[in-house]
Amino acid sequence: MFPLLIGVAIHDRLRVSFQLSLSLTTMLICRTSPLPRLRKGAIKVKRKMEIAIQKLNQSGRVLVLTGAGISAESGVPTFRGGGGTSVWRGMPFEQLSSKQMVDSNLPLVWEWFDYRRSVVSECQPNAAHQALATFEWNNRFEDFKLVTQNVDGLHAAAGSTGVVELHGSIWRARCLKCEARRDMRTVPAGERPPLCLKCGNVMRPDVVLFGENLPSDAFEDAGLHAKDCDVCIVVGTSALVQPAAFLPEFARAAGAFVIEVNPEETVFSGKCDLSLRGRAGEILPQILRSTHKNKFHVNSAVP
Ligand code: OAD
Ligand code: ZN
Repeated sequence: MFPLLIGVAIHDRLRVSFQLSLSLTTMLICRTSPLPRLRKGAIKVKRKMEIAIQKLNQSGRVLVLTGAGISAESGVPTFRGGGGTSVWRGMPFEQLSSKQMVDSNLPLVWEWFDYRRSVVSECQPNAAHQALATFEWNNRFEDFKLVTQNVDGLHAAAGSTGVVELHGSIWRARCLKCEARRDMRTVPAGERPPLCLKCGNVMRPDVVLFGENLPSDAFEDAGLHAKDCDVCIVVGTSALVQPAAFLPEFARAAGAFVIEVNPEETVFSGKCDLSLRGRAGEILPQILRSTHKNKFHVNSAVP
C-alpha cells in the first residue's frame, strides 16, 4: 500500500491513501490550537536556534524523522549529494536495491548488502544519535518518537529504544518463502544467499527495496505520531524518497511546527517552519544542552 518511490509527484495519491487508512480528515478537524507559524525571512542562525529550543520547551509530543545524513558523521556514506553509496561496481544503488534484482540475482544483492554491512560495522553512533537517545532517556516529553529511514542500526546502538525502522534493517535476513526473520550480525553473511533455519529456503536482506511496500505497521505507527506531534524534527534527509518524506508534510498539515536540520537546502526546506543549516552532530547536541537546562544532561553512556 505504501511503495518506496523517489520523487514528490505522488503526494496527492499518498494523501488520499493515508486519509483512507488513518482517517486523517477527521483527525485534522479534531486537532486544536496548533503552534503559531513563523513569518519566513532572513532569521539569524542564533535566533533560529532560540526558536527551535523555545518550541521544544513548549511541546509535549515530539517526532524525529532521520535519514542517511544523521549517520554521515559516523562515516556511513549518504545516498545522494555525492555521498558515496550512489554507485557500486558501476550499478546505481536504486537498481541494486530493487525487487527486480532480488528476483534476478539474489547473490549479487547479498554481495552489495555485505559491502554496506562491512562499512557500517566499522562505524559508531555519533553525537547526533546520542543526543536523540538522551532526549528519550530524560523522559522530558510526554511522547518522543524516533522514526528512521536508515537501515544501519546506529540509533539502537546509541541506546534509543522503540525506533520505528521504516526501511528495515541490514542486520536482519528474511526468508523468501516463510517470511521468518533472523538476525544476521556476521559480516560477510557467509553463504550467499543464506538459508532459512525454519524451512531451508533462500533468504534476502530484511530491507525495503525500490518497488516494494513499507511495512504497514511501521508506517502507520509513524503516521499516528506525525498526526499528533507538536514539533517534528527532520534530520539529514534529502526528502526525495516516498512515502517517508510525506510524514513531516503530514505532521505540518496536522498543525505541528516542523524543523529541518541539514547542512544543505532540500526539496522540503521551503515547506518547513524552520531550517537549521548545519551538521546534525553539532546542532542536535546544542539543542539538547539548551533545552530545559535544569532537566537535561548529556549522557554518553547507554542507560
Ligand atoms: P540521502 O542520501 O538522499 O540524503 C542525505 C541528506 O543528508 C542530504 O540532504 C544531505 O545534505 C544530508 N546530510 C549530509 N551530511 C549531514 C550531516 N552531517 N548532518 C545532517 N544532514 C546531513 O538520504 P535519505 O534521504 O535518507 O532507502 O534517503 C532516503 C532513502 O533513499 C534511504 O533510506 C535509502 C535510499 O534509497 C533504502 O535503502 C530503502
Ligand atoms: Zn523459511
